[in-house]
Amino acid sequence: MRQAGRSLPEYRAIRGEGSILDAIRTPDLATEITLQPVRRYGVDAAILYSDIVTPVAAIGFGVDVTPGVGPTVEQPFASAADLERLRPLEPVLDVPYVLETVANLVGELGDVPLIGFAGAPFTVASYLVEGAPTRTWTRTKALMHTDPGLWDQLMDRLADQAVASLRAQVAAGASAVQLFDSWAGALTPSDYERFVLPHSAKVLAGVADLGVPRIHFGVSTGELLVPMRRAGADVVGVDWRVPLDAARQRLGDDVVLQGNLDPALVVAGAEVALEGARDVLRRNDGHPGHIFNLGHGVLPETDPEVLEQVVELVHTEGRADDQPSLLDVAAEP
Ligand code: CP3
Repeated sequence: MRQAGRSLPEYRAIRGEGSILDAIRTPDLATEITLQPVRRYGVDAAILYSDIVTPVAAIGFGVDVTPGVGPTVEQPFASAADLERLRPLEPVLDVPYVLETVANLVGELGDVPLIGFAGAPFTVASYLVEGAPTRTWTRTKALMHTDPGLWDQLMDRLADQAVASLRAQVAAGASAVQLFDSWAGALTPSDYERFVLPHSAKVLAGVADLGVPRIHFGVSTGELLVPMRRAGADVVGVDWRVPLDAARQRLGDDVVLQGNLDPALVVAGAEVALEGARDVLRRNDGHPGHIFNLGHGVLPETDPEVLEQVVELVHTEGRADDQPSLLDVAAEP
């Protein structure tokens, strides 16, 4: 998730003004920001400080992240001619700073695993096509339905970029990967299966041989959990709208679930947050295949001390003696 986000004072102190992409391009800064929530909260894994649009920005598509808004694009993707602006990603040449950050972190983190990540083709495509964050995804849905051939080519290029990016992060030392399809929940199951699933499946298959756990996450994906599972990840992320026991019923016992405390409950204060966390643990009912997380990113107004208490509760009440670690959940390569 976007976790450290804006809630940590130590983050705001060193983040600087302007685009987050500048911070990401500065390995010492990105390393320090990645470490901050690990130090503060004692969480069991770190998530790399980067963004899902880092690769498309690096190849010069004209993407930036506007503070307080999100990813914005100067010239949105509109026709076949725009495919030429989406050349393959060469991580060592295009995003050396990301790989340097990963390498720095592996040294600093010791036993704490680092999760690398990429945006799933659909969620990245939606920014490129819309040009800015949207609530309706109208242009994106129009493109997939009116020109499915072009849609598939766009998605295929983004899938290849995600594979290249994830493979390079793992080669540099990341020990798990997460594919963020944050906005997939905007789609009907049939549109998801036709226009998105094959491309996300390509990304996940493209890193299967690395033997690292693969996590797949989206928001409002209640109706999509089963097809998302078919895309092939080892771990399915669940937002807070689907109770964890209901998600487990839909997906079966042999999948690892990640989630799913409502981030708004953490803002509501310690009592509410801790009761919410206990409810998640109760619904998991001791199942060993559970990665406790929020159902989406930490909200900026979150009190870090409440989050600290949530982590402590999960560590004391949520962990079985024989609990596997994140690194045990990868399928055999
Ligand atoms: O937060 C962390 O330190 C983890 C690193 C991380 C970021 N973005 C940094 C970031 C991760 C894993 C992401 C992924 C990401 N980026 C997703 C998928 C996960 C999710 O939350 O659903 C998405 C959809 C994006 C696109 C994006 N980037 C949005 C919508 C925004 C928020 C714009 C805003 O300010 O409200 C961003 C900016 C961004 N990326 C921030 C962070 C910490 C916000 C603060 C900042 O700009 O410093």
